[in-house]
Amino acid sequence: MQRAAHVASCSWPQIVKPAMIRHSLKCRAPLQHSSRAYSVVPPPRDDDERDAVHRMLRVDHAGEYGANRIYAGQMAVLGRSRTGPLIQQMWDQEKKHLAKFNEILAENRVRPTALLPFWNIAGFVLGASSALLGKEGAMACTVAVEESISEHYNSQIRALMENDPERYFELLQVIKEFRDDEMDHHDTGLEHEAESAPGYWLLKNVIQLGCKAAIYASQRV
Ligand SMILES: [Fe+2]
Ligand SMILES: [Fe+2]
Repeated sequence: MQRAAHVASCSWPQIVKPAMIRHSLKCRAPLQHSSRAYSVVPPPRDDDERDAVHRMLRVDHAGEYGANRIYAGQMAVLGRSRTGPLIQQMWDQEKKHLAKFNEILAENRVRPTALLPFWNIAGFVLGASSALLGKEGAMACTVAVEESISEHYNSQIRALMENDPERYFELLQVIKEFRDDEMDHHDTGLEHEAESAPGYWLLKNVIQLGCKAAIYASQRV
């Protein structure tokens, strides 16, 4: 039906030039989805769905916010070192992730977690203190955090796929793209000697425990 409407809207020879028709045919698949009345999240069907989706978006936003603060803390310590540009590169991607979730939250009137002021400080302190252990410490922190965030995104992807993949197509695209970025950050950490950090396994487990607690709290508060 959507495709029929789209094709009909593209068959005005007096307005649409052949080159434009060729271009629109090339773009036909994405246009099926972009013709929806919302950009990423469909309007909820009932209160339960709204609450579940809001919880999901709230925790994702909190995670991206926390990641930004961690990289800010690492840059405060290692910004002028040789590792600075690498951390900056990952931070720049986190800024894009956060901007997207800021946009999604505003568009869907989702309240951010009340814990943001706490994540602001905790994230920065975690980033800076891991960087004080040296480049390896910062990378160990990155591996721990990014692994937790990737797993979290994977569980959301599974839940949305089981629920209604067509309905949540756009949201799934966003989460999958961000999950891939987080996995790249994780791999970057490993490639830059994260495992050589002092007390790597302890550090990683403690940070991941903190991530689990942060995810639990940010969904609810
Ligand atoms: Fe991110
Ligand atoms: Fe990341």
